Amino acid sequence: MPSPTSKRPLRGSSAVVVVSALAIIAAGAYVVVPPWLRPHDPWHWPSTVPAERAAMVREGERLFNETALHLGPQTAKAISGNGMACRNCHLSGGTVRHAIGLVGITRRFPQFNARAGKKILLEDRINGCFERSLNGRSLPNDSPEMKAMVAYMGWLSEEVPAEMKKMPGQGVMKLPDPPRAANPDLGADVFQRKCVSCHGAQGQGSRNADGTYLYPPLWGPDSFNNGAGMHRVRTAAGFIYRNMPLGDPLLNVNDAYDVAAFINSQSRPQRAGVERDYPDRKLKPFDSPYAPWADNEDPLRHKYGPFPRAVGSQ
Ligand code: HEC
Ligand code: HEC
Repeated sequence: MPSPTSKRPLRGSSAVVVVSALAIIAAGAYVVVPPWLRPHDPWHWPSTVPAERAAMVREGERLFNETALHLGPQTAKAISGNGMACRNCHLSGGTVRHAIGLVGITRRFPQFNARAGKKILLEDRINGCFERSLNGRSLPNDSPEMKAMVAYMGWLSEEVPAEMKKMPGQGVMKLPDPPRAANPDLGADVFQRKCVSCHGAQGQGSRNADGTYLYPPLWGPDSFNNGAGMHRVRTAAGFIYRNMPLGDPLLNVNDAYDVAAFINSQSRPQRAGVERDYPDRKLKPFDSPYAPWADNEDPLRHKYGPFPRAVGSQ
């Protein structure tokens, strides 16, 4: 089993790429384009941290990777309401494509947000995840912690060209929707075979000695709440298809949908007031799993599909 919690230092990975590229050339398997001749790939850690911002960026990275340790329910601040960390979903510090990567994120804000029904700042979006994915409450925009997180994301984004508003591979992978509804019973079987070894029979995950998660929970009282993006079957399926089992993501699309449906049919914290999300109902995505919707479709179809074509998954 891989050790998922190995700390990722602030550095570029170009040395590793060069070494492996040379190894392939030496093996004579096929000719590869050396990395320094490849088109610029924006998904990487910037190679340096400007000295004047280093302390803040590192603090932001720490909060991102060890959220519960500094802001969790056991701490005096108790901003997040569960033991999870941002990195549990935004993998490798937010640097991975199709794993809700945050490289380039500062280029996209402020932006109109349909869930809030207004233009929001990056700080508001971060707080959206604190309140839903971490089942907690908002950090004040001018708090040192929020400033550090924004500084970290600014640093992650700083080698992305200013005009690049959309990153290839941002968010989760958009899968072709199966023509049938996602099936939680079939998903239970996928879960037993592919997920239980790390996430536990009750989806409870498992903890490190300091109380943070080695393997984060997928449902139950310490998981994301019903208002979170991961509670949407299509979003969870796209994430799982591309990233889980961690280190060996080989599910087919149907299995990814079914296991996403299984996880999201279990009990989890309920967020008060979600019915006020998407004040303009016409902008509410079809696959948003909680009422009310603009149509009279069966609520189960909103949750599990089959999803109509081109519903738009944002
Ligand atoms: C349970 C999983 C989960 C956790 C934990 C989590 N997030 Fe998210 N986050 C998501 C999902 C899902 C989205 C929406 C992705 C989509 O719809 O494409 C998202 C979106 C975001 C975005 C906007 C991304 C974009 O491309 O526009 C930011 C910024 C963000 N999260 C920050 C954070 C921060 C900071 C934390 C920790 C305080 C955190 N998230 C914790 C799941 C999570
Ligand atoms: C080898 C261990 C392992 C296996 C097997 C595994 N996961 Fe994960 N999973 C992880 C780890 C570790 C994380 C958090 C990643 C991090 O913090 O870097 C994670 C994160 C997640 C998350 C987002 C965080 C959360 O708790 O909500 C989801 C959803 C998820 N896994 C679903 C699955 C599903 C579904 C399967 C089976 C198809 C699966 N995982 C199999 C280790 C595993």
